[in-house]
Amino acid sequence: MATTIKNKPWAGRFTSATNTLAEELNASIGFDCRLYKYDIMGSIAHAKTLKRAGILTVAESAKIIKGLKAVEKEIEAGRFEFLVEDEDIHMAIEKRLTQKIGAVGGKLHTGRSRNDQVALDVRLYLKAECGEALTLLKQLRKTLVSLAKLHVDTIMPGYTHLQRAQPVLLAHHLMAYYEMFARDEGRFVDCMARVDVMPLGAGALAGSPYALDRDYTAKLLGFSKVTANSLDAVSDRDFSIEFISASSIMMMHLSRFAEELIIWSSQEFGFVEFSDSFSTGSSIMPQKKNPDMAELARGKVGRVYGNLMTLLTVMKALPLAYNKDMQEDKEPLFDTIDTIKAVLGVVAPMVKTMRVNKKNMRRATVEGFLTATDVADYLVGKGLAFRKAHAVSGKAVRFAIDKSKTLEELTMKEWKGFSPLFEDGIFDAVTVESSIKARKISGGTGTASVRAQIKRAERELKKRGRAL
Ligand code: ARG
Repeated sequence: MATTIKNKPWAGRFTSATNTLAEELNASIGFDCRLYKYDIMGSIAHAKTLKRAGILTVAESAKIIKGLKAVEKEIEAGRFEFLVEDEDIHMAIEKRLTQKIGAVGGKLHTGRSRNDQVALDVRLYLKAECGEALTLLKQLRKTLVSLAKLHVDTIMPGYTHLQRAQPVLLAHHLMAYYEMFARDEGRFVDCMARVDVMPLGAGALAGSPYALDRDYTAKLLGFSKVTANSLDAVSDRDFSIEFISASSIMMMHLSRFAEELIIWSSQEFGFVEFSDSFSTGSSIMPQKKNPDMAELARGKVGRVYGNLMTLLTVMKALPLAYNKDMQEDKEPLFDTIDTIKAVLGVVAPMVKTMRVNKKNMRRATVEGFLTATDVADYLVGKGLAFRKAHAVSGKAVRFAIDKSKTLEELTMKEWKGFSPLFEDGIFDAVTVESSIKARKISGGTGTASVRAQIKRAERELKKRGRAL
């Protein structure tokens, strides 16, 4: 139902009521209600700033703050009515405040606009939520490190093109994801530096005419900087785009990890088995145990990419300063936060509780000639140019395929047939263990190198406990 126009705080120049459908389209309260805490936090800081500027008396400011806290309690107790006619959370809270404390409530919006108010709310909200997402991301990185520690001697095939390529340690493989997630953390932290800027004082677009101490407001709200340009302060959402972009990259990493775990949990691979608590069954096939959680971690990347595209498109070509289009910033942002928190929250314990089948991993390195490069490297050690050595090794592989043998099963006579340079050492060189051992280069899959990676990660996890 459309309300009479008189109920709108902006009714002054209007004579007729808003069309019901227009009112519904216009309203954001259905989703921006989740900003209530930050809206109230911002309003309390604003009331204090108004007092400091001599615009509110001590008593007025105290009354407003008390009233705002009472409104917050009402919301938290589920006693607050969110009405479409109130349009958004900002006007709903202001209306309720005035109902509770009377006309003085009408002084709160002095020197402020919903344009700087909403920019503030979203920034406060993002700071808090990003902090939570980072805690979950850290949990996942810790899980990867502890699992890697258990598997510094678990050998598996490393793949390129999803074809067996060279042997690696499972710990090395897991630490690769650790590195990706560490960079993801870095992207979130970088983004937070740009979120951590206080926009109040920008007013609707041109700046407030009151002597508001913006640094004081920033300090009250825990911001490290204030925005430098009022037009920019109310009209950009690049910080939200950046957050969704960092989330998209992280989700892309999660989807790769999830995809590998899905493949590894297939009967064909049999490398891992998810615990029952992180698997689901089939409604028709009694034998099924499906990796749904990993599939959702893989699948939910779609909506986060979609959210990024939504917001980039909403912002494209918008003239300065605020435009109502920008109200469309919230749902993609909220959905991104909900999604990354839900996925991160499940992936860490899912990985922690999965069973690793070391035997199957090791067995998969026997066939597939994973040490063919080591054969070439052996010949390089004997003075042959790598390209020639590659060709010799390739011939040995071809021969072994034809004879249905592994490289380890070739005899000295057979090796000599490919090159007189082969000597007894080749028998050791073709084992997966020595292939791993040979890669002690920093960043390589050699056991010592992987241990060093783990140590470094442990130091990093201890050091970066930063609060946002
Ligand atoms: N609900 C609005 C939004 O989210 C708040 C700002 C409204 N500003 C305005 N000038 N109509 O964007």
